Amino acid sequence: MFCIIYCVIALLGVTQVQPICGEECQCGMPSDDVVAMRIVGGTKTAPHAYPWTVAIFRMDFLHCGGALVTDRHVLSAGHCFIGDIIQIMRVLAGMDNMNNLEGVVKRTLSDVIVHENFTSTETRDDNDIAIATLTSPVPFGQTIIPICLPKPFENFGAYTGTIVGWGRQAVNRPPSKDLLEAKLKILSDSDCMNSKLREHLTDNMICANAKGIDGCQGDSGGPLIIFDPSGRYVQAGITSWGIGCANPRYPGVYTKVSNYIDWIKEHIASGKTCK
Ligand code: ARG
Repeated sequence: MFCIIYCVIALLGVTQVQPICGEECQCGMPSDDVVAMRIVGGTKTAPHAYPWTVAIFRMDFLHCGGALVTDRHVLSAGHCFIGDIIQIMRVLAGMDNMNNLEGVVKRTLSDVIVHENFTSTETRDDNDIAIATLTSPVPFGQTIIPICLPKPFENFGAYTGTIVGWGRQAVNRPPSKDLLEAKLKILSDSDCMNSKLREHLTDNMICANAKGIDGCQGDSGGPLIIFDPSGRYVQAGITSWGIGCANPRYPGVYTKVSNYIDWIKEHIASGKTCK
């Protein structure tokens, strides 16, 4: 009964919900109906082109990015939560420009699990992954859709990746108001190890770069995604660390999500996912 009412409402276009009755929702697939067709060196995203992307605010300031993996779990970086108070954080979903909060869903956090083996040095973080639980679920619809997780130990070397975020557009510039996206190349594990970052790297990290393009402060925790041959976006990495931003000598470093699939699944069991 609920489904019939829900569908009728959705079909009438009264609310911004997708008529998903009878079929399950799909992860990693932005809605065709709304996607018409900073990141350093990025461009403004089309409306709701990356509907799993969330901004994590700390007080009134952009703190980190994240990606919805269920209707109540955000995958983000461990270092976004270490030594911090989650009570002063807010997650904003369904947002593009920070000054337009129409249809944006805001949630507090009830819990954050940072990986047990998270470690940090002055240069880099290892096992830089966390699951933040929202106090109440977000409604999936045209502007809020979860990202797909990769297969365990899936490797994305040589893929073209996309990063999105509201982070700084240069080391000394403020965060972006618009959600920005940029495309870069994911390096093979051996190319990553042969880069100038070698001494700081572990097998839990992915390197990615492109000329003039990088994540920067405020992008941490946000997703590095790839477009899978199945036609959906899959999350390959989590923006983790770098030396400066868009310095041609150093690639950006991302947490290798596929190394943590069991860990992630264990901690998101209470959430609703999509096919
Ligand atoms: N760690 C930074 C943050 O907390 C940004 C990481 C990305 N930096 C980079 N150069 N790729 O937002």
